[in-house]
Amino acid sequence: MNAQAATAQLGVQQLQDLEPTLEEFEAAVVAGLSATQKTLPCKFFYDAAGSVLFDRICKLPEYYLTRTELRILDEQAPAIAALLGPQASLVEFGAGSASKVGLILSRLEQPFSYVPVDISRKHLLAGAAGVARAFPGLRIAPVCADYTQNFALPAAASAAPGALGGFFPGSTIGNFTHPEAAVFLARTREILGPGAVMIVGVDLQKEERVLNAAYDDAAGVTAEFNLNLLRRINRELGGNFRIGEFEHAARWNEAEGRVEMHLVSRGAQSVRIGNARFEFQAGESIHTENSYKYSIASFQALASDAGYVPAACWTDERQLFSVHALRVP
Ligand SMILES: C[S@@+](CC[C@H](N)C(=O)[O-])C[C@H]1O[C@@H](n2cnc3c(N)ncnc32)[C@H](O)[C@@H]1O
Repeated sequence: MNAQAATAQLGVQQLQDLEPTLEEFEAAVVAGLSATQKTLPCKFFYDAAGSVLFDRICKLPEYYLTRTELRILDEQAPAIAALLGPQASLVEFGAGSASKVGLILSRLEQPFSYVPVDISRKHLLAGAAGVARAFPGLRIAPVCADYTQNFALPAAASAAPGALGGFFPGSTIGNFTHPEAAVFLARTREILGPGAVMIVGVDLQKEERVLNAAYDDAAGVTAEFNLNLLRRINRELGGNFRIGEFEHAARWNEAEGRVEMHLVSRGAQSVRIGNARFEFQAGESIHTENSYKYSIASFQALASDAGYVPAACWTDERQLFSVHALRVP
């Protein structure tokens, strides 16, 4: 039985499938590797293997983000449920394995539906199935889509008698530049509509040593996650990257206020992808991800610029991570 048939058996509604095509993936890769500073979009980290590697990252001792956010959500779930009210619908952007939403769903009064949105289809369906098992009877309508593009909310969400809630945990917002984050937030505000509440997990600025370790763990899982993007290009686009000829690097960029991940070419080399060829100098990098770190005030200012009204902000005692509630006026 395939993943979709298995989730259907659990009562999960038909997948809305807007997964980016191979042509879109190829066009993004060729454009990124043709730039002066070579880049690859981080959204393509998440094929089935990349999503599994990300879940392993979340359990690493250096990756304080997940456990800290889970603790804040656990403590504040009653307050979040009070903001949403009865018969609400939750739309989770970048749901992945949907390991955090249960904390909120279990506190909601008669939750109406759950709409997980993710670019990684297999992982999305497995996450939806997990939520279906934990919350029998809840309407679950998964959407496989790139959330930076337009998609329609399934009827399961738009028909909710109660409020619409957005949920964007994991500090995934940090993967956007500030202007991109503002565009994304404005898009979610449009999708969710007046009266909705958006819950966003945002990592906070802190010591460089702690940040660099979180993105370059001792066990090398983040390195594997980063290198998996080259494996994916080889497999799906007929590339010939020699994986051992690239090295993972994570660097705090003080001027930009972000941790950057790169794949650094160990030597001068040439790489073919389909009919295209790319030359690398020794030490030249492909910039694969940004993780911007915010202060509470700087994130609230960004959210306000995007048309939200900050309603609440919760942190842990060490101020490592923040969870924001934003209201659509
Ligand atoms: C940093 S992980 C966070 C996963 C999970 N929400 C958490 O908090 O642990 C980012 C998630 O967003 C998904 N994602 C990344 N870019 C995306 C995009 N442009 N559109 C849809 N999903 C995306 C990934 O597949 C992944 O599941």
